[in-house]
Amino acid sequence: MTKNRQFRIAARPVGMVKESDLSYTEEPVPNIGANQALVRTLYLSLDPSMRGQMENRADYVAPLAIGDVMRAGGVGIVETSNNSKFPVGALVSGTLGMQTHCVSDGVNPPLRVFDGDVDPVAALGVLGGTGMTAYFGMLDIGQPKVGDMVVVSGAAGATGSIAGQIAKIKGCKVVGIAGGPEKCAWLTDELGFDAAIDYKAEDVGARLSAACPNGIDIYFDNVGGEILDLCLARIATGARVVLCGGISRYNANGPIPGPKNYFNLVFRRARMEGFIVLDYAPRFAAAAKDIQAWMASGRLKHRATIVEGFENLPRALIDLFEGKNTGKMMVKV
Ligand SMILES: NC(=O)c1ccc[n+]([C@@H]2O[C@H](COP(=O)([O-])OP(=O)(O)OC[C@H]3O[C@@H](n4cnc5c(N)ncnc54)[C@H](OP(=O)(O)O)[C@@H]3O)[C@@H](O)[C@H]2O)c1
Repeated sequence: MTKNRQFRIAARPVGMVKESDLSYTEEPVPNIGANQALVRTLYLSLDPSMRGQMENRADYVAPLAIGDVMRAGGVGIVETSNNSKFPVGALVSGTLGMQTHCVSDGVNPPLRVFDGDVDPVAALGVLGGTGMTAYFGMLDIGQPKVGDMVVVSGAAGATGSIAGQIAKIKGCKVVGIAGGPEKCAWLTDELGFDAAIDYKAEDVGARLSAACPNGIDIYFDNVGGEILDLCLARIATGARVVLCGGISRYNANGPIPGPKNYFNLVFRRARMEGFIVLDYAPRFAAAAKDIQAWMASGRLKHRATIVEGFENLPRALIDLFEGKNTGKMMVKV
């Protein structure tokens, strides 16, 4: 009998997430009922938000209990189906969980169906949650205008690399901040960023001042902490600070200091706004069309770091926080 292989929450993480915070289990692949489809997982996404979801904390998604299958986005193929919206063989994505098989009626969990010619890696990355986050964060919250000076942190990651390219497509000058010379070279040499700053080796403040002499019009923040403060100190009048994420704080123990330079928002008549991509779900299909057109014309590129093997999911989550990914981090099941 085929087994449903799973990772469940074994312990609430303290500080940096550990492999032992997840435990491996197996159970029989469930039978489907009326209106349901069985999805066999192809790729699972590793996301910084997983760290917070492993805590017993209610925020924008319901908290998970110890012993629950860990929440994870994934793409898969419909293997058996009693639901005509999800025919056998269809490529679907959704919160499939850290498991090799998932039963859905299309509502619990919600499923997106992709055209047959879509690459599953793109469906999970550039056309999936992180691509959508980049699209709506940059366009709806950032509202780029031709000639704007845009700074993106976490720039070589899944969200940041797409957000920066979208700003370029909209006629902006874009500076990326990322960890390490290879990531920085990828941003400038392949993705067309105007400059890249290696925050692990360079003086970020000095480089920002030199690259943005008239200030920053849009700061797309994926990391929070010190880099957010350095950018807040350099915003231009009317700037938009897009609060997408704050990975520098996700594994912190204890209280986290707020940004010191927030008052510059007053002097610069600027706006700092957070958003959650799930709120844009009704517009995902339209956004995916734009992204596919940019990809087809060669104006938008994407990359994935693919870890082979379901058993490596816990290690891959740690690798994400250690910056071992360029572009979208995922596990091939
Ligand atoms: N608002 C939303 O709806 C939404 C949705 C999805 C994602 N997000 C947020 O978007 C951000 C990016 O997510 P992603 O899935 O695209 O991940 P990602 O950027 O592909 O991967 C995480 C990257 O963060 C960097 N990093 C790790 N620790 C850091 C630190 N202390 N300071 C600076 N950089 C650090 C690493 O790159 P380096 O090598 O450059 O350090 C790593 O590769 C996260 O903050 C996430 O929570 C928000």
